[in-house]
Amino acid sequence: MTQATRPTALITGGTVGIGHAFAEALAVRGYDLVLASRDEAGLQQVAEQFRDVYGVNVEVIRTDLAVRADLLSLAERVESAHRPIDLLINNAGFGLKTDLLELDIDLHARALDVMCLAPLVLSSAAGRAMKRRGHGGIINVASSSAVITTGDYSAIKSYVQIMTEGLSIELEGTGVKVTALMPGWVKTEFHQRAGITAHRLPDFVWIPVDTLVAQALADWEEGKVLSVPTKPWSFAVHLARLVPRRTIRWVSKQLMSSRKKGTDA
Ligand SMILES: NC(=O)c1ccc[n+]([C@@H]2O[C@H](COP(=O)([O-])OP(=O)(O)OC[C@H]3O[C@@H](n4cnc5c(N)ncnc54)[C@H](OP(=O)(O)O)[C@@H]3O)[C@@H](O)[C@H]2O)c1
Repeated sequence: MTQATRPTALITGGTVGIGHAFAEALAVRGYDLVLASRDEAGLQQVAEQFRDVYGVNVEVIRTDLAVRADLLSLAERVESAHRPIDLLINNAGFGLKTDLLELDIDLHARALDVMCLAPLVLSSAAGRAMKRRGHGGIINVASSSAVITTGDYSAIKSYVQIMTEGLSIELEGTGVKVTALMPGWVKTEFHQRAGITAHRLPDFVWIPVDTLVAQALADWEEGKVLSVPTKPWSFAVHLARLVPRRTIRWVSKQLMSSRKKGTDA
């Protein structure tokens, strides 16, 4: 593959966790990368590693997706006609442990900006540019939490799922494939950053990050609008859609009360 024909993927939060695994999997597939997150030093370090190991071009953009000017500037980069983005992965995000009744408004506003507004604005910019070119892809990282009711995080990830499904309708037949990824539990910095202890969870519920990313990319390539990697999680999400909502609320209540006690995820 020559440099001129290499596709480019832009990944938000591509320095650690799921975003880093996407970046690595795409570098292996010969994609050039654009990585965007807040951590300048982390971005430079990961970029150097990918250039050295995989010989791909890596552009880094220091951005805080909760800052409107940063988001709009990143959207401009996404929509650029001269340096096209072939695959956008809206991955950046963080967990929320707080109650709805004890609302930290700044934290929740940041969560809505980073996990709802940013994927919406960037997907819209990417969708327009890709539609004009007649090809491209968008993967929005939602969560299996979207099918339960664990407070604002579930509501936010449910937004990502529904927004992505809506986008897939608008882009039908344009050559642009759109997928909402709904991971179950994945061992990254996510739980620790949110102050969520997950030590009592059995091993089988954890999805290895490389397995998650490989299946997500396969599902996106197949044109699946919803991707729920691994059989146990796919079964769980399917079941959650079939059982009465009061059952879902009961399961969510158990999860939330174990979180409050700090005994579980
Ligand atoms: N891990 C799980 O079990 C799990 C399950 C379901 C869904 N998810 C979703 O998967 C996505 C990735 O999570 P992860 O597990 O990989 O978590 P992680 O290891 O904590 O990584 C989160 C990434 O998001 C970036 N980020 C956070 N706030 C940002 C901001 N304001 N501006 C720009 N970048 C920001 C972080 O970069 P900086 O801090 O350097 O900015 C980091 O690269 C999230 O959307 C999460 O909700 C995770």
